[in-house]
Amino acid sequence: MEFKTIIEPFRIKSVEPIRMTTADERAHFLREAHFNPFLLPSDKVLIDLLTDSGTSAMSSRQWAAMMLGDESYAGAKSWERFFAEVNDLTGMPHILPTHQGRAAERILYGYLGGKGKYFFSNTHFDTTRANIEFSGGTAIDMPCPEAKDYDSDAPFKGNMDTEKLEAHIRSVGAANVAAVILTVTNNSGGGQPVSMANARAVAGICKKHHIPFVLDCCRIAENAYFVRHNEPDCAHLSYREIAQEMFALADAAVMSIKKDGLVNMGGFLALRDHALSDACTNLLIITEGFATYGGLSGRDMEAIAVGLEEVFEADYLHYRIRSTAYLGERIRDRGVPVIFPIGGHAVYVDAQGLYPHIPLHEFPGQALVCDLYEVGGIRSVEVGSVMFGKYDEQGGFVPAPQELVRLALPRRVYTQSHLDYVIEVFEEIVRRKESARGFRIVHEPPFLRHFTAHFERL
Ligand code: F0G
Repeated sequence: MEFKTIIEPFRIKSVEPIRMTTADERAHFLREAHFNPFLLPSDKVLIDLLTDSGTSAMSSRQWAAMMLGDESYAGAKSWERFFAEVNDLTGMPHILPTHQGRAAERILYGYLGGKGKYFFSNTHFDTTRANIEFSGGTAIDMPCPEAKDYDSDAPFKGNMDTEKLEAHIRSVGAANVAAVILTVTNNSGGGQPVSMANARAVAGICKKHHIPFVLDCCRIAENAYFVRHNEPDCAHLSYREIAQEMFALADAAVMSIKKDGLVNMGGFLALRDHALSDACTNLLIITEGFATYGGLSGRDMEAIAVGLEEVFEADYLHYRIRSTAYLGERIRDRGVPVIFPIGGHAVYVDAQGLYPHIPLHEFPGQALVCDLYEVGGIRSVEVGSVMFGKYDEQGGFVPAPQELVRLALPRRVYTQSHLDYVIEVFEEIVRRKESARGFRIVHEPPFLRHFTAHFERL
């Protein structure tokens, strides 16, 4: 018989205490952090849903593997194990190890980009966009039309709009398109998965126009779960085989291993093209480290080699995807508007839908992020007009296309009772939603302002 309770498929061997705080303390801590939860010390946070990046709990097998770390400068055994694992997964012959995803982005997009160059994606993640724009290039998002409807149960809202892609390639000229980047799952687009059919269609268009096709694959195992369960022609494949099939379509892959690598630090750039690899390896050596370690120590590479295997285990992925859905479905039942269906690594709350009385230029997403902390000590992240809003040439406010708050779940870290607590905090947020107030930015840097901006409550 099958039981309906899905248990965490692990026992806890080592624990990290959480410090309880009072609402008064939290109000004080938040003021000290200028109402920006990125500026809160982590010991002032009860449940940290800021990110699923680099926050995984490692397994005993990974910790054991770290002791095998070979820290030789060149040709370390740990590099061989890392290379074998990443090469088997991606099928790509050239693997450049970096300290995290954005270092791989800087190398690849810095090299391919520059003034007059275009990058098209289902949705560029913020560091991806920042690296492209920093190179002088232009990043354009083309999510599929279903992505706009938060309520429909379309299974692959992370897909790219292939008609728009064709039209944009025609309008700027294929020679000016530096790359097409498919982000799986689509993090800034609600953590929604991308179908194999869509990946094939995008790959076909890129091939026809001789444009490099890049997979931003940091959550490709979670994506594979949705593909296997919602795309009948892939149902016979294992999760790993699905990922391998998607990699086979691409010319390059950029991975922040801090997500589905189940480790706390790491990234890679995988390439098929020999000449491109030579050019990127030069940049790797100048800015990260020698080709056989890049930005990683030997022990990191050992833990990664194990993590990239463990993440595809069926029990793990089932628990992972179902626990994210558990949180999302329950807060939705309590009247919180969320992007539906629930994605892999996070629940995305429609902050504008929850706080319709706060205008976009007063940042309803930031208001919710602050309220979640004050009410329950929960740290989340705004993915809206603080992160992606802009000013036009006259200094006018241009809001982001979506006003979301992300509750990202670290991997193998929190149990169901932690999530039950988060659900209860949301019940309180719903009760007091009419009294929520907006914010004004009082200090901001020119790039990636959400990390360090200061706010004032209106
Ligand atoms: N691409 C995607 C889709 C990401 O989600 C991230 C990071 C990166 C690239 C950059 O990788 O952080 O290792 O340099 N996302 C984190 C997040 C920060 O919270 O979603 P990195």
